[in-house]
Amino acid sequence: MTTTRLTIIRPDDWHVHLRDEAMLQMALPWTARTFGRAIVMPNLDPPVTTAAQAAAYRDRIRRVLPDGSRFEPLMTCFLTDETGPEDIARGFAERVLTAVKMYPARSTTNSAAGVTDFRRVYRVLERMQAVGMPLLIHGEVADQETDVFDREKAFIDRVLVRLRADFPALRIVLEHITTAEAVDYVQDAAGPIGATITAHHLMINRNAMFAGGIRPHMYCLPVAKRESHRLALRKAAISGDPRFFLGTDSAPHLIQDKESACGCAGIFTAPLALELYAQVFEEERALDRLAAFASLNGARFYGLPPNTEAVTLVQSPWQPPELLPVGEADQVRVFCPEGKARWRLLEPAD
Ligand code: DOR
Ligand code: ZN
Repeated sequence: MTTTRLTIIRPDDWHVHLRDEAMLQMALPWTARTFGRAIVMPNLDPPVTTAAQAAAYRDRIRRVLPDGSRFEPLMTCFLTDETGPEDIARGFAERVLTAVKMYPARSTTNSAAGVTDFRRVYRVLERMQAVGMPLLIHGEVADQETDVFDREKAFIDRVLVRLRADFPALRIVLEHITTAEAVDYVQDAAGPIGATITAHHLMINRNAMFAGGIRPHMYCLPVAKRESHRLALRKAAISGDPRFFLGTDSAPHLIQDKESACGCAGIFTAPLALELYAQVFEEERALDRLAAFASLNGARFYGLPPNTEAVTLVQSPWQPPELLPVGEADQVRVFCPEGKARWRLLEPAD
C-alpha cells in the first residue's frame, strides 16, 4: 500500500541562511512554518563574529517571526583568525551561541574573513573541545588550483583528518556533504562527527547546471557532483545512521545576483524543503526513516530533545511559488526542479 499521509515529530533545519532585513522578512516565515528550530548561518555581510552580534541578530530574527510562532533560532558565530576563545565559550555557556561555523577563507559567499590557516584557530578549537561546543565546517579547500569538483575530498584528506587527529573529542558537523567520500568518511570515523545533507544535493547532480544552457539557479557550494555521488548521499540520508541529518542550506539570493556574469552560489529551498525530502524518501521507499533524518538525529547530535509538536505531510501535488517578492522591487527564485511538489505540508487550518 502506498503511503499518502505521514505524521512525524516537527523537524529541525540544522543549516539555514536566513539573511537580514528584507530578505530575512521573506525567508524566515517559510523556515518557521516547517521547522521547530534552525541553526542560523552567520555569513552576513559583515559576518556575525561575536556572541554579542549573534544575540543582536537573534533579536532581529525574533522580531520578524510571525505572531504565535514557536520557532527557535539557534545562533552561530563566524570563526576568523582573530576569534578569541573567551567570547565563544561565554556565548556558549550563556546559550546565546549553539555552535561555531568555520569557513575556509574565500570558499563561498561572504567568507572572505574566514580561516586562512587552521593552525591559527587551534586555541579556539581547544576551548570548544573542552566545553563540548560543536564546530560546523564548510568542508572545501579554497585554493583555486584544486578542481572545483575535488575540493570537498581534498578538504577531508588535507585538513579534516589532521584536525580530528588533533581534536579527537571535538564535536564536528561536516556541513552539506556532496560526495561519496564524505559519506564514507563520516560513516567510518571514530568519535563525535555528523553531517548535514541538503534536499537539492539529493535531487540534482551536476548536469542540472548545464541542462540546455547555463542554469545559475542550480549553482551552489559545494557544487553538485556527478550522479554516483548523489546516489551515495541518498543512501546515507535514508540509512537511519544517526550521523546524517537534515540541513537545507537554503540560501536565497536576489535574481539579479544569481543571473549575472558572476552569479552567487546558493539554492533557495525553504518554501518546500521538507516536502522535497519527503519526495526523496518516498522514491527510495524509506518514508519510515524520514523522521530519524529530519526530526531525531540532529537533535540528538546537538544534545537537544526532539520537538514536542508534530507535522503532517500529505501526498497531494501542488505548485509552489516560482518567484517570491523581496522588499518593493526584488525577487528570489524558489528551487523546484520538477515544477510541482508531490508532498504538501498541512497548515494548521487544513
Ligand atoms: O551555496 C551556498 N550558498 N553555499 C554556501 O556555502 C553559502 C551559501 C550562501 O550563503 O549563499
Ligand atoms: Zn550554508
